Amino acid sequence: MAGHKELDAVTGVETTGHVWDGDLKELNKPLPKWWLYVLYVTIVWSIGYWVAYPAWPLVDGYTRGMLGYSQRSEVTRDVAAAKDSQARFVQAIATSPPAEIEKNADLMEFVLRGGATQFANNCAPCHGRGAQGFKGYPNLNDDDWLWGGTIDGIEKTIQHGVRSGHAEAHVGDMPRFGIDQVLTSAQIVDVASFVLSLSGAQGDAAAIERGKAVFGEQCVACHGAEGKGMVEMGAPNLTDGIWLYGGSKSEVEETIRGGRSGVMPAWEGKLDPATIKMLAIYVHALGGGK
Ligand code: HEC
Ligand code: HEC
Repeated sequence: MAGHKELDAVTGVETTGHVWDGDLKELNKPLPKWWLYVLYVTIVWSIGYWVAYPAWPLVDGYTRGMLGYSQRSEVTRDVAAAKDSQARFVQAIATSPPAEIEKNADLMEFVLRGGATQFANNCAPCHGRGAQGFKGYPNLNDDDWLWGGTIDGIEKTIQHGVRSGHAEAHVGDMPRFGIDQVLTSAQIVDVASFVLSLSGAQGDAAAIERGKAVFGEQCVACHGAEGKGMVEMGAPNLTDGIWLYGGSKSEVEETIRGGRSGVMPAWEGKLDPATIKMLAIYVHALGGGK
């Protein structure tokens, strides 16, 4: 019935002439014009896209497109560029003395960012995320250094560790005065009172006096006559109120009774020299470096 148009009685809309079940007629309601144009535009766009960019899968690959675009080649180019600039930084770190690195703003930025990442990965479990330390693991932000706070000193500590078993590790142990029966329990209590008095704690004057004598005999070789510590021995300053193993009377007594022998691993061989240097400068820059 093509060509024969008829108006629907109920809606007044033209019908297409298709009829079902005798009286079910299809109304002629075309798609809106704007919708059709958008559709045509997208079709034209997609054909253009197929021609220009990689699009269709083939048996052994895909259509490459006329522009030769590839995300893979783009990523490869980016990664190569990043590696290239990193390699230049790493090379500069490996070959320049720390003082020169510190003067170069670009290099320092790389060192501080890289150092922070390496620190989080390798050091934070023991020294804490912010290098604030925990009991037995020194705070690296303060100006209190067991083994020296110059960049070189810090670098050596990281390289070789402390009591780590490395041939060049820092050694020197706090003796176990109680366990090895060098001092009696009473002497340990006295000398602990004296040690605490060095950072201003009050105590029994007679005990402090007796403790002072014990300290003069047993402790000055490592902690110094004034108890200020010695970097060569890794013996902490006992007068600054900063305590690696706790500053309560019982904690100090425990240190004297049993020693502590904290272990810092050696990183030589585990981290490359440039990374170790980067970490040393990073730790030094945390604020407490000398
Ligand atoms: C397994 C735990 C552990 C890890 C991991 C560790 N350290 Fe240590 N670190 C220690 C201990 C314990 C000491 C204190 C040793 C001592 O008693 O003298 C120490 C000491 C240090 C010191 C000397 C501080 C001073 O006052 O002289 C520096 C610097 C240091 N660590 C840096 C690092 C860096 C950088 C890393 C990561 C590459 C790291 N540490 C990873 C346990 C650790
Ligand atoms: C052979 C050297 C040596 C002698 C002698 C020595 N110390 Fe120590 N002392 C150390 C070292 C090294 C440490 C750090 C231990 C560690 O980090 O594991 C230390 C740590 C300590 C600490 C812990 C400080 C803190 O910050 O928690 C106290 C307290 C202490 N010594 C007191 C004494 C007293 C008291 C004597 C004498 C009775 C003494 N020491 C004799 C080497 C020595």
